[in-house]
Amino acid sequence: MPCPIRIRNLQHDLQLSQPKLNMNKSLGKRSGGGSRNIVPLCWLLAASSCFWLLMFTPIPLHRLAGMCSMSTPTTTITDQCEGRYIYVHDLPARFNADMIHNCRNLSPWTDMCRFTSNAGLGPKLDDSEGVFSETGWYATNQFALDYIFHQRIQRYECLTGDSSLASAVFVPFYAGFDIGKHLWGYNTSVRDSAGLELVKWLTERPEWARMGGRDHFMVAGRITWDFRRLTEDGDWGSKLLLLPEVKNMTVLVIESSPWHGNDFGVPYPTYFHPSSASEIVSWQERMRKLKRPWLSSFAGAPRPNQTESIRGQLMEQCRSSEKCKLLECDFGASKCHSPSSVVHMFQESVFCLQPQGDSYTRRSTFDSMLAGCIPVFFHPGSAYVQYLWHLPKNYTKYSVFISEDDVREGTAKVGEVLKRFSEEEVRRMREEVIGMIPSLVYRDPRESRMEGVKDAFDVAVEGVFERVERLRRGVPLEEMEEESSSWKYGLFGRGGEHEWDHFFRTPKR
Ligand SMILES: *[C@@H]1O[C@H](CO)[C@@H](O)[C@H](O)[C@H]1NC(C)=O
Ligand SMILES: *[C@@H]1O[C@H](CO)[C@@H](O)[C@H](O)[C@H]1NC(C)=O
Ligand SMILES: *[C@@H]1O[C@H](CO)[C@@H](O)[C@H](O)[C@H]1NC(C)=O
Ligand SMILES: *[C@@H]1O[C@H](CO)[C@@H](O)[C@H](O)[C@H]1NC(C)=O
Repeated sequence: MPCPIRIRNLQHDLQLSQPKLNMNKSLGKRSGGGSRNIVPLCWLLAASSCFWLLMFTPIPLHRLAGMCSMSTPTTTITDQCEGRYIYVHDLPARFNADMIHNCRNLSPWTDMCRFTSNAGLGPKLDDSEGVFSETGWYATNQFALDYIFHQRIQRYECLTGDSSLASAVFVPFYAGFDIGKHLWGYNTSVRDSAGLELVKWLTERPEWARMGGRDHFMVAGRITWDFRRLTEDGDWGSKLLLLPEVKNMTVLVIESSPWHGNDFGVPYPTYFHPSSASEIVSWQERMRKLKRPWLSSFAGAPRPNQTESIRGQLMEQCRSSEKCKLLECDFGASKCHSPSSVVHMFQESVFCLQPQGDSYTRRSTFDSMLAGCIPVFFHPGSAYVQYLWHLPKNYTKYSVFISEDDVREGTAKVGEVLKRFSEEEVRRMREEVIGMIPSLVYRDPRESRMEGVKDAFDVAVEGVFERVERLRRGVPLEEMEEESSSWKYGLFGRGGEHEWDHFFRTPKR
């Protein structure tokens, strides 16, 4: 008897249909609302619940009029949750809550108890230097996504306790926290043990049998290489993402592999976690109006031991230019580790240089875009092939690409390339970046909803639904069949030769 559930959905539905803000990308085309006929038996119940809703919800009456009209005993009710229901597995506490209780053990050098405060957002940042806004800013750790995402999903508006209704099944295993604890000084069997226990637990549930786990998803809030050990007894990482069970799942990571189809890049958490749409809108407004005296800037450290790294050259070019601002990270307590110094520099810059470091991606990319700074990438692995759900595929709209090779060979001078963009082109790109801000931030997970805005979480969950739906319908996934070219299918929708092939010849680690 699905009736009571449907009525609960009606309430969701009504709460969801409050006035929307006109914000780009905010109300997507894929809202997934479906219609359903309510059997007459349920009708009285529905009608009485309409009465209570009329009393207590601030919804324009004309919206209710259609839904509560008594004209016909069988009426059509839009279920805004249809196609969006999530079932969350109730995992044993050792896979999640215990790690938060024992936060002191999460990292040998970082006090993760600080960073798991405020539902994973970390300590509040004050606005004494006028860089942030008064509310919504936190010193968030870049590896806190496991926890932030779980906190958020617990208040997701379309949760269901009935897994047969669910479009996707969430597995709240804190994979990033678990491996973060064990990356240094532990043997491979210790590094792999939680993942192996997890898949044992999962495959014994009835939910697994339905699709062999292909409707399951989880978050591993670190880079994919921490979970993709290259050899059986290699010295780095676990083999979580290589387990046959996990290959069937969709795993969200902050840097995905260009050669594998089961992991998907989602934005690094930044410092801004708004709790209302107006907080975002006024931030966007402010970023539009800022004066930006620096043509470009870079915050980071050189990589003297990586012969291929262009960081040294970029820093040298920056140092010798009057229009480039450099924040060097290599000396102990440098300003480079102060969120306010870094964000302030991004706010004062037109372009922000984002060369790869130890891995392809950087949290800095998201911090700088949040400040309205146009990113400059030197490797397509740094963003374009990563965040396909969150960034436009046409990367020239919001960023500049200068090939690493050209910098290494000295044929590209970054300042010269950037100078060539006209004011109008810069304005258009910046507007594109600022327009993307809502979908790049993780809003405060303690806030039950934020009308009219899709944040990074909402976009990620939509990506999961779409992928699971394709799997459910048996649509072949080329990126799974030809995994070594998965980056091409993701970005261009096809395989074959590409001018970027040489960027993706050797594995990172
Ligand atoms: C790995 O380390 C654990 C704990 O330190 C130890 O009990 C175990 O025997 C080790 N396993 C191997 C294969 O060395
Ligand atoms: C992965 O999914 C396929 C298709 O549903 C299934 O046949 C297979 O058993 C699954 N693998 C595991 C390890 O459950
Ligand atoms: C570079 O390598 C040398 C020698 O192996 C090492 O002492 C040094 O700490 C390394 N520097 C960096 C920045 O990793
Ligand atoms: C990508 O965006 C640029 C700049 O907006 C535009 O000129 C170009 O036509 C777009 N390319 C495609 C393939 O849509």
